[in-house]
Parts: sequence; C-alpha cells; structure tokens
Amino acid sequence: MSENIKKPVGITETVLRDAHQSLIATRMTTEQMLPIIDKMDKVGYHSVECWGGATFDACLRFLKEDPWDRLRKLRDGFKNTKLQMLFRGQNILGYRHYADDVVEYFVQKSIANGIDIIRIFDCLNDIRNLQTAVTAANKEKGNAQVALSYTLGDAYTLDYWKDIAKRIEDMGANSLCIKDMAGLLVPYRAEELVGALKETVDIPIQLHTHYTSGVASMTYLKAIEAGCDVIDTAMSPLALGTSQPATEVMVEALRGTPYDTGLDQNLLAEIAEYFRPMREEFIASGRLSTKVLGVNINTLRYQVPGGMLSNMISQLKEQHAEDKYEEVLKEIPRVRKDLGEPPLVTPSSQIVGTQAVFNVLAGERYKMITKETKAILRGEYGQTVKPFNPDLVKKALGDEKQITCRPADLLDNELDTLRKEAAEYIRQDEDVLTYALFPQVATEYFKYRDAQLTKIDDKVSDKEVGAYPA
Ligand code: CO
Repeated sequence: MSENIKKPVGITETVLRDAHQSLIATRMTTEQMLPIIDKMDKVGYHSVECWGGATFDACLRFLKEDPWDRLRKLRDGFKNTKLQMLFRGQNILGYRHYADDVVEYFVQKSIANGIDIIRIFDCLNDIRNLQTAVTAANKEKGNAQVALSYTLGDAYTLDYWKDIAKRIEDMGANSLCIKDMAGLLVPYRAEELVGALKETVDIPIQLHTHYTSGVASMTYLKAIEAGCDVIDTAMSPLALGTSQPATEVMVEALRGTPYDTGLDQNLLAEIAEYFRPMREEFIASGRLSTKVLGVNINTLRYQVPGGMLSNMISQLKEQHAEDKYEEVLKEIPRVRKDLGEPPLVTPSSQIVGTQAVFNVLAGERYKMITKETKAILRGEYGQTVKPFNPDLVKKALGDEKQITCRPADLLDNELDTLRKEAAEYIRQDEDVLTYALFPQVATEYFKYRDAQLTKIDDKVSDKEVGAYPA
C-alpha cells in the first residue's frame, strides 16, 4: 500500500464485555465500570462492546444488577462513542429459539436503551436464524453487524465463506464480522480469508479473535494488511490469554503506518492504570486464574475452544474419569462430523462436548443420546453445513420427523404469554424480556429487587424516591 493512502483501522474495545467474560467469568460490576467511562469516551474507539453475551445472565445471577439499568448508565456516560452488543440470532442472549415477536422487541429495546451496533451470529451459520434480528435492527435504525462463526473443516472452504458473506450483505447487514471465538484463525489464513471477503462484499469487515492459541495479534496484522477495517482488542490489564490482543499493543504496532488508528497512547495508559489494580484484585481473589493467561496450544491441535476444554475437564472430574481426557478429545471431532460439522460456539459447543463425554464414558458410542443432540438432529437449531450421519439419525429419532424450515417458523408469538406469566414482577417494559431469557434467574432477581425497594420505602417516607426513573 502506498504511504500516501491512509486507511486507519478502527478499534472495538472489549474490556467491558468479552474481556471480562473470557477472563473473570463476566464478574465486572457496573460500579467498577462507571468511573472510567468518561475517559474511555474521549479515546475515539470505533465502538465499545459492553453488553450481550454472558453479561446479561451474570448481571442477574451473580451481581444482582438489572442489565438494562447498566446499559442506560453506560449510555449516559458514553456521549460520543458507539456502544456495541453481541446477540445470538434467534436465541437472543439465551439458549433456546425465541418467537419473532420476542426477538423484535428485544432488538427494539436494546436500541432504545442505548445500543448502536448489534453483532448478530448463529452457532450453525444458518442465516435464516439471523434475518429477524437484522431486519429489526434495520427498522430501529440500529447498525446490524452479522458475524460468521469461524471454524475449520472440509466444508469450510473460501467459497463457502464468500457465498455466505454475499448472502449476509444481501440480507441487509451493515457490516460483516469474522468471529473466531476459539482463536483458530492463523495469520496467513486470515490474510487469505479477509482478502477473499473484501473481493466479495462492499460492507466493512471486522475481525474478532481470542489470544488463546497465541497467534491473535499476528492474525490481526495480516488481516489488516489484507484490508480488514476494524479489530476487537481489550485494554492490556484484561487482554491476552483467553481474552483479546491488547489495545495499546495494536495501536502502537500500527502507529506511523497507513493503518494508524490515531488513538492517544497517553490516554490509553491512563485507562490501563484504572484497570490494573482491578486485575490484581481478581488475581488475588482467584477469580482470574493465571492458567487462562498463558498459551493453550491444544486449541489449535484439537480445534476445540478453550472454554469447551475446561468444561470437558470438569465433566470428567465429576465422573472421576480424568484419564479419559485424550479419548474424549479424539471423540469430539467425530461427534462434530456426525452432527453435520457445526462451528463450536454456544450452544453447539456444549452439545458436541457433552455428547462426546457420554460416548466415551458409556464405553459405546451413542448408547446414551442427550436431549440436545436429538434436537440438533431433528433440525431444531437449523441447518448444518453438512448432512447428519444417517445411521445416527435413525438411532436417535426412529420414526420421528425432522424439520427443514426455519425453526422459529414453528413458534407462535409468545410476548403476551410471557407478560402474563411475569405480570406480578414487571416494573418496566424491559422486564418481560429479562424474564423471557432467564425465567428462573429473572424471577429470583425480581424478588430481590422488590425486597430492596421495600427497604427503601421503609427508610424514606417520601415515595417519590424510585429506583426506576422513567
Ligand atoms: Co469472543
């Protein structure tokens, strides 16, 4: 590239979402975020990822916070910066398929409460599962980014990625993200992939990866040289390991080149100073394990995401069968093949991993078939890139029918029913969505919240003190 042509790379900062989800089980509180957002707002990030993924669940379950309230507070603080969220297509932020009316309402409320960019993905890359969310985001004047769940396998050729990218552009996405949740994308493959996608679509291309396998910052560099427009990074105290490459490092690496991000290193240093003691506290409390900070080369050897490996180890430990580790590792790709070779990302990663553990522990493959494996085989998650193993389908389903339509086509609208179910707890419009995603956890949180309100009412006779300003 000629020195004269400037092509500044955008930075999406993940410290408020993926970085703490990856390193400290999503336990950063809103209180811990608010003091620094004024400074973060001055950086000039392309966007700040701050919501979605596991943050919603962790807010309610562990932090006793209203995730909507967090979003509103972040929106108040970030006056100049776009806020970004992660969204699991028809699963929204939950683990099942929701009816379209819930998906649409969730998108509407996310944007109304402050989200600018919604990154939407599907664990099978079945784009039918993305359409409702993309259309809703377009309608609400939000920015719909569609993410390809990146994976390896015979079916995942450059032509496959180019074809799906084109269809995503055609469906109305404003930008395209390559979502490499496991850190499988190595530098020269990234160059090839981004180059191919740049030839195929006109919308901007963003790359999301994790440092797990140790190649991520090299991958970013090659992707940028191939035309990648935006990368995801995390402030250094919560970077590397299973998180993203460090923001400051990428900014420095690109300085003085045509890709110069233009971000102020001094300002970034001040922000890093804020997060550094937090990192030390998380390490001291054991919440941040130094184990996840190193290089895990097994992710490349077995093409299994880091989170899936640690899940599998704990399942084997529970069964006192840690000696079966290598055997399960070999079984995972075989199960994945039987199930149509899906990418391994929530929820397909859990389904494949658990079935592989069962297959090994039972001493016979598919002696025990999980409910979720059957659901995939029935077509309830959508279409996989390759056909299922027909023998397995026969064994698992017998005469049961498979579905071939978009799974949500079989779901009736459910908002009204959900509103009725949760009626006694609803204090704001958004509560029905919270309830839809995590009925049990939400109900517990709502009870807790009401109890807190009663306490406030007892203390302050002035009833105008409300926790939920309009
Ligand atoms: Co991620």
